[in-house]
Amino acid sequence: MYFDLNYYMICKINDDWPGYSLDLFNYPKHYSGDLECVYIPHGVIMDRTERLARNIMDDLGDHDTVVLCVLKAGYQFCADLVERIKALSRNSDHTLPMSVNFIRLKSYVNDQSTEDLHIIGAEDLSFLTGKNVLIVEAIVDTGKTMTTLLKHVEAFRPKMIKVAGLLVKRVPNNSGCFPDYVGFEIPNHFVVGYALDYNEYFRDLNHICVISESGKLKYKV
Ligand code: IMP
Repeated sequence: MYFDLNYYMICKINDDWPGYSLDLFNYPKHYSGDLECVYIPHGVIMDRTERLARNIMDDLGDHDTVVLCVLKAGYQFCADLVERIKALSRNSDHTLPMSVNFIRLKSYVNDQSTEDLHIIGAEDLSFLTGKNVLIVEAIVDTGKTMTTLLKHVEAFRPKMIKVAGLLVKRVPNNSGCFPDYVGFEIPNHFVVGYALDYNEYFRDLNHICVISESGKLKYKV
């Protein structure tokens, strides 16, 4: 969960990456004007997820594992990651016997993290005791959410905890929390799509996109 050799195994998106023009891809018409660019196309997310599945399989293969999906934003990444691990289990000598559970956390209002982190549902995680646990999260920003969740999970004494995060933001105030498996390291932009939301909007967008200022205003609460 902390800085280690895996750091060199991540796709780093540089600060000057402008993203792709929206005209180059399909996206739902109801979001026209609300997005700046396509930052990571859906196909690239899929290809990277396939590789993460292989890394996870290499490390955890042949051990019973409880996948703990962090809702809501993590549902799409978790579903796609689990699908790819299942495909590897079907097509190689190794298998990864998995069960999948869900935990819901909420800390964001508009594009700002709040101190107020809520764990909603599955407060009792005693089924994790003595198990290998893979936490699957869509995005790590300041790392506060992950740090709090890790403390909560550790209290139930699992045998081992690994974290897979699709995105990690380069932010100056990161709490030092770094997932074991990272899809992409990105600059400090507020991104939406692929189940990442802005006040519950944009989960129905399959690319990861940067939200526009007018989009932020339109869906502000
Ligand atoms: P952290 O506690 O600052 O690391 O924030 C992590 C949580 O904030 C994630 O689980 C997301 O729900 C949310 N979040 C942070 N950055 C973004 C973003 O760019 N888009 C959508 N949600 C975000």
